[in-house]
Amino acid sequence: MYAQMVKTDVARVRSLDEMDPVERGFQERVDAGQKIEPKEWMPEGYRKTLVRQISQHAHSEIVGQLPEGNWITRAPTLERKAILLAKVQDEAGHGLYLYCAAETLGVSRDEMYEQLHSGKAKYSSIFNYPTLTWADIGTIGWLVDGAAIMNQVPLQRCSYGPYSRAMIRICKEESFHQRQGYDALMRMVKGTPAQKAMVQDAFNRWWWPSLMMFGPSDDASVHSAQSMAWKIKQNSNDELRQKFVDQTVPQAKYLRLTVPDPDLKWNEEKGGYDFGEPDWEEFFNVIAGNGPCNAERLNARKKAWDDGAWFRDGLTAHANKMADRRTASKIAAE
Ligand code: 3HC
Repeated sequence: MYAQMVKTDVARVRSLDEMDPVERGFQERVDAGQKIEPKEWMPEGYRKTLVRQISQHAHSEIVGQLPEGNWITRAPTLERKAILLAKVQDEAGHGLYLYCAAETLGVSRDEMYEQLHSGKAKYSSIFNYPTLTWADIGTIGWLVDGAAIMNQVPLQRCSYGPYSRAMIRICKEESFHQRQGYDALMRMVKGTPAQKAMVQDAFNRWWWPSLMMFGPSDDASVHSAQSMAWKIKQNSNDELRQKFVDQTVPQAKYLRLTVPDPDLKWNEEKGGYDFGEPDWEEFFNVIAGNGPCNAERLNARKKAWDDGAWFRDGLTAHANKMADRRTASKIAAE
């Protein structure tokens, strides 16, 4: 598979014959399904790809807290409030595991935050859309966490050990997130006509952005071929998008919702749905920083960083004081 001559950001995927013995040994281990661990030799491109993907993933988790956090104080019942609070806290935890996994590749947490705040590092396009009603919260759990699981289950088999292990725990929590979202919507669609309409409206607004979460179509995906050769990714963007549509449409039918896609049609021959093309112009516009909430999200993250400066300074001062004390007592003992 690694021998396919597909153009990627590293020009193209090279065959084993073109690699020097060290790199060939690395690729053979990856092909054999062995995990690569932090202190082991790895190609620089492999390291950089992982830092890019894992840090973007971590940023997505913590930026993803913002649209839902917006509804914690407005949840309709105490039970829903407690569930949402737990979910939003889980996302912070996911961010932490992922930042730790990225740090094992030699990048510091401060560098990653700097890249997020300067706009150099991306985070998932999905979090640049507003949460207008309570139905948006159920819909995010169902669709956004559902899409995240579809993408992240294969990442549990990623060739890089720390990322793959972080994903195992994250996937368990994400499946709770998805079920709580679906449960909230089931309750609403059994409610008043206004509640049902609210769910359909949220579904209409989140359907296409959820499909965009899987990234551009395969022919426009610059990193996929090399990432799949390195077994960082196991599936292409379009493969996962198709699986998501096939899984989600029956769930929408169960909720008696109409999928907002006139081209959606069951295709008996392929055993899956045919569906319309997402608006890729909108997608590229959002990831370029021009979505409805990009500025708001980044400003919230930067404010949190600035507001936390006194705390980070306090921690550093305390750590320095402890280090000085240890040095002084070592000198005294000599
Ligand atoms: N949002 C923002 N940027 C995206 C994107 C999206 N939905 N999809 C692709 N891109 C970016 C890529 O990062 C890349 O930009 P870069 O070169 O500046 O990094 C460019 O578009 C080209 O896309 P590729 O298909 O070539 O990129 P990848 O091979 O990296 O594939 C991916 C994109 C499928 C998103 C992959 O990076 C991936 O699987 N990442 C890990 C999962 C992840 O980040 N999930 C975030 C979802 S939200 C979440 O998990 C929170 C949960 O609580 C819901």
